[in-house]
Amino acid sequence: MQPMAKAFTPILVSSADDLETPQDRCPECGEVFQYEKNPEFSAKDSSALPRTVLSRLAWRPITHLNCESRMRERAHAAAAIRRKQEINHVLKRSGFPGNVMSKTLSSFQVDPDCARELELVKRWRPTDRYGFWFQGPPGSGKSHLMGSFVHRYFEASTEKVPHMVWWSVPFLFDQITKDFAREDRAEPTFQDALNADVLFLDDLGTQQGKPWETERLFQILDRRLNWELPTFVTTNLATGEVKNLMHERLTSRLLGLCIPVTLKARDRRRDVLAERLRDLHGRV
Ligand SMILES: Nc1ncnc2c1ncn2[C@@H]1O[C@H](COP(=O)(O)OP(=O)(O)OP(=O)(O)O)[C@@H](O)[C@H]1O
Ligand SMILES: [Mg+2]
Ligand SMILES: [Zn+2]
Repeated sequence: MQPMAKAFTPILVSSADDLETPQDRCPECGEVFQYEKNPEFSAKDSSALPRTVLSRLAWRPITHLNCESRMRERAHAAAAIRRKQEINHVLKRSGFPGNVMSKTLSSFQVDPDCARELELVKRWRPTDRYGFWFQGPPGSGKSHLMGSFVHRYFEASTEKVPHMVWWSVPFLFDQITKDFAREDRAEPTFQDALNADVLFLDDLGTQQGKPWETERLFQILDRRLNWELPTFVTTNLATGEVKNLMHERLTSRLLGLCIPVTLKARDRRRDVLAERLRDLHGRV
């Protein structure tokens, strides 16, 4: 025979004083909290509830302010570490150049020649469904400027960092070629370039220009244009050369995806060289 359930004895409570305080501990320092009466507690209908529940309703812990702010600081620090890890993970996985973290907009010196274009670049927002197409001679800052968008996406992403993929175009085609040899016939590199939330194509125009490359490039740009997936491009080619070297249908899609910006600046790698030489001459 089942034992009879213990009868619930109603408690007669007229105020919080009839109830002992709970003995919860502060999760930060481990001390038992001090309690104050909860002014919203009403003894009415209290008999229907168990004593432990009632005491938690009648008394509320006086939180340790220092402990609370320490806990908040720790939570913030943990969130910052998680974010950094996530960013490193994205950077490692997606082909970004090792120095991309130093290529920010604030570390980019604006030449007067390009000031107006740079103003447009600054006004762009990560919610915009288009990117930029940077043209200009070697060392003029195209890859640097394209890298600055990676930071802007990172800064704007409070929840999830978008899936960003960076390819130097000749390496993209090398990898696609390697994928052709896969037994499962999957084309992960091509698929990634088609579907990534954001695609960065560095050095467009330095690929070999084989017909299958042009075809793949067309497919990538066409798909991204139709799905409004932000795409960024750098190229040494001037607009005329782009037209000559690439099919007009490609150029048209590039213009649908990106705002063209021409950087006329000098080769800044020469500045770096001059700086190194100055440094070496200055050494004893
Ligand atoms: N306006 C600038 N302000 C600060 N640094 C710059 C600027 N332009 C270029 N640099 C620096 O000069 C170097 C060369 O720039 P970057 O790699 O962006 O050139 P690029 O235009 O992509 O050249 P390439 O066509 O050869 O790839 C980089 O270290 C970059 O950070
Ligand atoms: Mg470059
Ligand atoms: Zn505490």
